[in-house]
Amino acid sequence: MVSDPIDRLLDAAESGKSIIKNRDILHFTYIPDTIQHRTVEQEQVTQSLLPILKHSRPSNLLVYGKPGTGKTLVVKKVLSKIQERVRKSNFPIKLVYSNSKEETTLYGLLVSFGRQLGLGEEKLPPTGLAISEVFKRILNKIDDEKLNAIFVIDEIDYLAELVSKTGKDILYQLTRANERLTQGSLALVGISNDLTFKEKLDPRVISSLGEEEIVFTNYDVEQIKKILEERIKDAFIPNSVEEPALNLCAALAGGEHGDARRAIDLIRVAGELAERQQSDKVTKEHVREASQKIEENKEETSLKSYPLHEKLVILAIMKAAGSSTGEIYSSYKALCKTVGRDELTQRRITQMLSEIELSGIITGRLVHQGIHGRTKKYKLTITPEMVKKTFKDDLTLQDII
Ligand SMILES: Nc1ncnc2c1ncn2[C@@H]1O[C@H](COP(=O)(O)OP(=O)(O)OP(=O)(O)O)[C@@H](O)[C@H]1O
Ligand SMILES: [Mg+2]
Repeated sequence: MVSDPIDRLLDAAESGKSIIKNRDILHFTYIPDTIQHRTVEQEQVTQSLLPILKHSRPSNLLVYGKPGTGKTLVVKKVLSKIQERVRKSNFPIKLVYSNSKEETTLYGLLVSFGRQLGLGEEKLPPTGLAISEVFKRILNKIDDEKLNAIFVIDEIDYLAELVSKTGKDILYQLTRANERLTQGSLALVGISNDLTFKEKLDPRVISSLGEEEIVFTNYDVEQIKKILEERIKDAFIPNSVEEPALNLCAALAGGEHGDARRAIDLIRVAGELAERQQSDKVTKEHVREASQKIEENKEETSLKSYPLHEKLVILAIMKAAGSSTGEIYSSYKALCKTVGRDELTQRRITQMLSEIELSGIITGRLVHQGIHGRTKKYKLTITPEMVKKTFKDDLTLQDII
């Protein structure tokens, strides 16, 4: 008897063969009750923000550490605990969180802060004001209501890349805003996983933002495993994740610098794959498959996000595997002709190659050619199939592919 494919899946779902009992717990915004291995960091962040409870201004704070080391988690948890306490006592304390990867302009970031302080659309329109005016209105609000405010700017390195020259100045003023306040106070908390971002920001901003600094160390494989175990206990039904699967997850995510986000993503995707295959256990193979899938998604996303000429360069490398910059350039020019676009200069393409190399999609190697000097040869690190699959929806490129 051939069963209907839709019915078969619906039956399986109904018969309760799901092994994930609470998906939300595996989402990156979930805040677990206990934060393991981060006692010192939780203490440090709390200590640093404590003065606010006594109506004095905390120092500006810079929080650093590699991706997935619990920075956002710890800072948010400290904020929510402080908030809980002041709610009862009616202190004029305002703790405000914003992420500069989501708020993609300084204007947007300031408006988001303003809104959280209670400034409505009429006082703070979403567009149209000079940025210095937005800033002034926020400061007035803090002063008028004698607020003690803390602004958290998560992923502040994104902001550093976005801001224009006036933006840079506003950012500096923001770090020094407290000096302009007479009644209220303002402290900033910046969070970053880009350890080089200090070089991108004005040194004056860094020095006033970094009045205090807290560094989150890397998790090791054992710690990642403990974090995973805790999550699995709450998110999966008992005994549904095999020990080797757990170990592999921890090893894959702990390998480089101990990225807890990666570990949790892996176990979530592995769990979903297991469910889809109607397996009642998550095995090592599911984790391996999950890892591959996540990797492919990452490659696909970064491939898709390239502008046209970058895509043409990637195709040129694909067509002429392992070739020199000059050969790639000729191949690129030919592709430009096929799609009817003007070509960019060789100088620009050489620069572009270095940029693409940084993303890891291609890799380059210097080759010495005797009296001809040296050249750089490039090849793809991903499969041509992946490139074709990703680019085939791009109408301009259809003729080539
Ligand atoms: N010590 C821990 N205990 C439990 N869960 C943790 C711990 N550390 C991190 N996590 C979880 O790992 C994920 C990543 O943590 P978080 O978002 O805080 O990382 P981050 O340091 O802010 O990384 P990024 O720099 O990439 O933003 C989250 O789902 C978080 O809940
Ligand atoms: Mg974070």
